[in-house]
Parts: sequence; C-alpha cells; structure tokens
Amino acid sequence: MAAEQNAQSLDSAFYQTANKFFSNQAGTALTYDDLTLATLYSEVLPSNAMLDTELAGGLKLNIPLISADMDTVTESQMAISMALNGGLGLIHYNMPEKQQLKEVSRVKNHIHGLIQEPITVSPNQTVGEVLERIDTKRYSFSTFPVVDDNHKLSGLLSGNIIKARYNSKPVSEALVPRNQVQTIKESDLGSDPITVADLFFTENPGINKLLVVDDEDRLRGLFTLSDIERITSEKQALFRPARDSQFRLVCGAAVSTPRKSDGTLDRDRIEAHVGNLINRGVDVVAISTAHGHTKGVGEAVKLIREAYPDIPIIAGNVTTAEGVEFLADQGANIIKIGQGPGSICTTRLVAGVGIPQMTALYVASQVAKNKGVSLLADGGITKSGDIVKALTLANGVICGGLLAGCPEAPGKVMEISGKLYKQYRGMGSLEAMKSGSAARYGHNKEDSSRKIAAEGIEALKEVSDNLDQTLAQLIGGIQAGMGYLGAPTLPNLREKARYIRVSPAGQREAAPHDVVEMKPSQ
Ligand code: XMP
Repeated sequence: MAAEQNAQSLDSAFYQTANKFFSNQAGTALTYDDLTLATLYSEVLPSNAMLDTELAGGLKLNIPLISADMDTVTESQMAISMALNGGLGLIHYNMPEKQQLKEVSRVKNHIHGLIQEPITVSPNQTVGEVLERIDTKRYSFSTFPVVDDNHKLSGLLSGNIIKARYNSKPVSEALVPRNQVQTIKESDLGSDPITVADLFFTENPGINKLLVVDDEDRLRGLFTLSDIERITSEKQALFRPARDSQFRLVCGAAVSTPRKSDGTLDRDRIEAHVGNLINRGVDVVAISTAHGHTKGVGEAVKLIREAYPDIPIIAGNVTTAEGVEFLADQGANIIKIGQGPGSICTTRLVAGVGIPQMTALYVASQVAKNKGVSLLADGGITKSGDIVKALTLANGVICGGLLAGCPEAPGKVMEISGKLYKQYRGMGSLEAMKSGSAARYGHNKEDSSRKIAAEGIEALKEVSDNLDQTLAQLIGGIQAGMGYLGAPTLPNLREKARYIRVSPAGQREAAPHDVVEMKPSQ
C-alpha cells in the first residue's frame, strides 16, 4: 500500500494536473511541442474511444474537428466532406454574399433522407422530351414523379419506359397511374421520417421510390431506397455524419463585421447577412477576427445575439481570460483561441503580440468553465498529437494548413518540379484582404491600395490525400492518445490529462532520429 502511494505521489510530483502544471509555469508561454502528456492506466481500446463534442445547445459534432473559414480551405465541397465525417466546415466570406448563401445551401441540401423538391415531369410532355432533358441536364436517374399544373400527383414515370422507342408517347399514357403509386402523407412522417421510410421499404420488396404528398395530394417529396440504405448504414458507423434535427448536414459560415463610411459598424448589413444565412439553414455563424477583444467585435456579437437568440455564435480570436469573458458576456457560445499560431500567420512577427497555444488555452479554459462557453483551439496544429494536447483543454480544434492540400479544398492544383501543390494563403495576406477579409485585420477593403501591414503570407501546400483519408489518420491519432490516457470520452480526457515540460533534447527524441527514413510518417 505504502509502495503504491509512493508510486502515485512520485507520478503526481512529475506529471501534473493542468492547474498545477500551468500555474507552476506562469510567466512562460508554452505550445504543443513544449510539453507532453503522461500515460495512465487504461482499459480503453483506441478504436472504442468516442469523439463526440457538444459545442453549443443544438450544435453537436461526432468528431471535434472543424475546417477553417479561409478562402483556400472551406467552401461547400470541404464543408460537405467535413460534415459527412462527423465534423464541421466554416464557409469563408471572401466571396459575394449571394454566393456564400449558395454554398451553404449546397451543404444543407446534400443528400438527406427526403428529397424535398424532386425533379418532376408533366403529363403533357412526351417520353422523347423527357429523354432529351435527362441528356442535357445529365441526370443520373430516370424515374420521375408526374404532376399536373397544380403540382397534384398524376403518377410515376418509371425508368424502364424512358426509351427512344417510346419517344412519341405522351407521358400521360406511359406513366404508372396515381392509384398504383406508393405514397405516404406528409403528416404521417412524424419526427423520424427515415425510420418510417425504412420500414416502408422493408415491407414493400421491389419498391424503391416512396412519394410524399399533402392532404390535397400535391407532391411534397420523395424517398429513395438507396438514400435510406446509405443513411441507415451511417447510423451504425462510429463517427456518423454531423446532421441537424432535420437530418441535413451541419454547416457553419463566417460573417464579417463591415463598417459604414463614418466608421461605425454596419449593423443592418450584418443583421441581414446572418438572417439570410439562417434562412438557408446555417447551424452556426463565426465572427473571425485577428482581435476579438474589441468594441467592434463585441458589438457585432451582441447585435447577432439580440436579433437571433437561438443561433450558436463562434467568436474570436482571443488568448486572454478577459477576452473569453468579454465575448461570452456579449452572447458568444463558442470562443476561438489563437493569435498568431497559424502556419501562414505573421501576426507575432508583424505586431509582436500573441500567445503560444497551450498556455493561451489553459488561461482561456479557466474562464470558459464558469461562463458556460466552449473553446476551439485555432491554428498551429501540425499533427494528431497536437490535437490530443489541445483537446485536454478545448472542445474542438480548427485546422487550416492540415486540410488545405486535400482535393476538397478550393483552388487549383499546380505542378512545380514534378510535385503537385495547392495554394494556401493567410486571410491577412494582401491578396486575401483585397478579396474581402481586410475587416478581419482591422482594415478597410479599400485600404488595400495604400500600404497596410499584412499579417499573413501566401504559400503552397503539397497536395495530400483526400479528406476522408486525412481525417482517418487524425482520428486514429486522437483515439490512440485517448487510449494511452485511459479516456473513453473527450470530457474524460480533459479530466485525466497530466502534463510535463519537454527539453529541446526531448523534443528531438520525439521525432524519428538517427535513421534514414524510407517513407515519411504523418
Ligand atoms: P493553421 O496553422 O491551421 O492555421 O494553418 C489556421 C488559422 O490561422 C488563422 N489565420 C491567420 N492568422 N494571419 C494570422 O495571423 C493570417 O493571415 C491568417 N489567416 C488565417 C486562422 O485563425 C485560421 O483558422
């Protein structure tokens, strides 16, 4: 017993809890490579470690990873893939507002169980006209609900009738008549339409389309067997897609904080922008600035909170306890921590400010707990081990550079000396600021012609694996870390973490050394 106690106290003298460790290091700013986590007794198999995280009421992710709201990282394709993997993409705002709204709609309308506006044909068309439409629009399906001018269901045009030999036949003669078409009333779908549709397909072998109608027999939607099968198989996966209450993929979008010519915040524009995003179904809006502890950002958060009490708000960036407290008091739910750690950031060099991530996260976490807000570690993540360390203090991480080389990131691939690269640029780089992100760094877009100090660079990332494979590597690493700490869940990881500083020699020891590497590891 005494020996046991001895071992325990020996461990706790060296490997310290967050409070003890960071208090002992007060006055020194530490980042990921400056410390390591001690392993603990474990009964957790890495593959069983759960990664779900609740960032705000109504915003739950199945993995704690978010793609950055940067114009070389997140548009709809990245956001769809992030959500399908259980995470979240934040669509950037360096584009006209109309286009950003479209990008959000693309994510929200990406295959969900019920196709709400299925493509229909009219009974007056001919089969030849339908064939031509399939050809010009490149539809990958050939079965269509048939509706009259009032959108009332007339029948179903089956794919096996859509053949050139029937070209001259009117759809009204070729269709399966209304009384033979399987339908369900919209009011009978209840709160779990997928389960209802799943049961229907099981009970009706051979049927692979189920039409939804209203009380007047107008077409309201369509279920297909293949969509339902995909969704039910997703239900069994460990990390399911992140979906909203209507089973649509989750999506976030960044909003800027524009000013009027008199220097005051353009409140009407911000309110209208957020309102439009909410109408498109956005799940969270992000106010991303280089300095979140400012009057302007505080006002913008407050105005959004007052206008839209239910929308989760991400705000930042800050690295101080007062900064977290300030944004929480204005109504933010999720605070971004990170000033200058990003791979393309030059804020620390240009302005001489910013705090290395682990210290910033610890300080922020002390206030976040009391204020009931969650934290995102934003920037500087270069490997899965960094994510494990960040998650001992934060509820999620934001990645830019780690994902910018994926084919899902916007931007063309270029070849240089036989290697493939994609552009990756800071939102504070001159070119990005000209495209719209100047306000994020406290400048006007119009200012960009005069000399302003850029706080980011334009760079290249080598083209990497697709997002599924990239995330699989990162998730595997996070789960391994949780296995080493015996933590089955992320809250448990935060509770259990024990830290110790690493010397420069210890840092060298952590990476492969004294060998000739044949294939670089992740
Ligand atoms: P990583 O390290 O993942 O960082 O590439 C992405 C994060 O960096 C921030 N960001 C910037 N910070 N100047 C900065 O100081 C910039 O030009 C810039 N652009 C992006 C941002 O928080 C992002 O999520």
